Amino acid sequence: MQTAYTKEELRAILAPRRGRRIVLVPTMGALHEGHASLLRQARLLAGDDGCVVASVFLNPVQFDNAGDLATYPKTPKQDLETCDKCGVDVVFMPSPDTMYCADRSITLEETHLSTVLCGASRPGHFAGVCLVVNKLFNLVQPTDAIFGKKDYQQLAILRRLVRDLDIPVTIHGAEIVRGEDGLALSSRNVRLTPEHRAAAPGIRRSLLAAKEAYAAGDETSAICERVRQTLEAIPGVRCDYVELVDAVTLHEVTDPHRLALLAVAAWFGDVRLIDNIELSRS
Ligand code: PAF
Repeated sequence: MQTAYTKEELRAILAPRRGRRIVLVPTMGALHEGHASLLRQARLLAGDDGCVVASVFLNPVQFDNAGDLATYPKTPKQDLETCDKCGVDVVFMPSPDTMYCADRSITLEETHLSTVLCGASRPGHFAGVCLVVNKLFNLVQPTDAIFGKKDYQQLAILRRLVRDLDIPVTIHGAEIVRGEDGLALSSRNVRLTPEHRAAAPGIRRSLLAAKEAYAAGDETSAICERVRQTLEAIPGVRCDYVELVDAVTLHEVTDPHRLALLAVAAWFGDVRLIDNIELSRS
């Protein structure tokens, strides 16, 4: 495995690999089993001839909250070990100064899918994600890139980015990886108090109950309210949003026969967790 800390190093390492399949897995580090699963899928997709690139970059531009950025876990040494174990060929680990010019002045804003869910409560977040992912696409020039479905809205927005800017990369969405108790793996889970860690799998249970209720034809507003009440019954928990939307437009469900998405963001103390589940009515 090779590690590039600058754009020049990355270009030099990738030069002999051009023309082959290059699969990129962008991450912000603090890698856990969810990331490991993305990296292993990338290895399978790239095959023996192809190249797997993982980027490990805690992108300051996508944080709307300085406290969240400051407390985001950083584990670069373990991240390199995880990448190595998962068969990554190249790790790109730039510093913020390497990645961004001090006087950068270009923004990249998606203006429809970003206005709802996390985009409504985290202004500027998805513009920061689009900017860094677009830069990574330009630097790595991957044939394929893999993103997890836990960040369902991010995945939808990045598909839109690639479509609207004609970026020649195939985007793959990977299933959410969960602990045995159902909690979606997240780098932020380590910051939960023991009480909130024990209660957090309640998110998954409430989503599963909602899936059944949706299939049985319950009203969407009643389903969302039940999830909200269940979660807010946990001491110290406040829902940011509980929304049932069309899984493609991320806006209101207008055709109940299309795939829907129930998405939740909730504060467990000062840790914001997100999760989602796809829903359908036959
Ligand atoms: O999902 C993440 O970890 C980040 O938003 C991403 C895609 C690596 C961009 O910084």
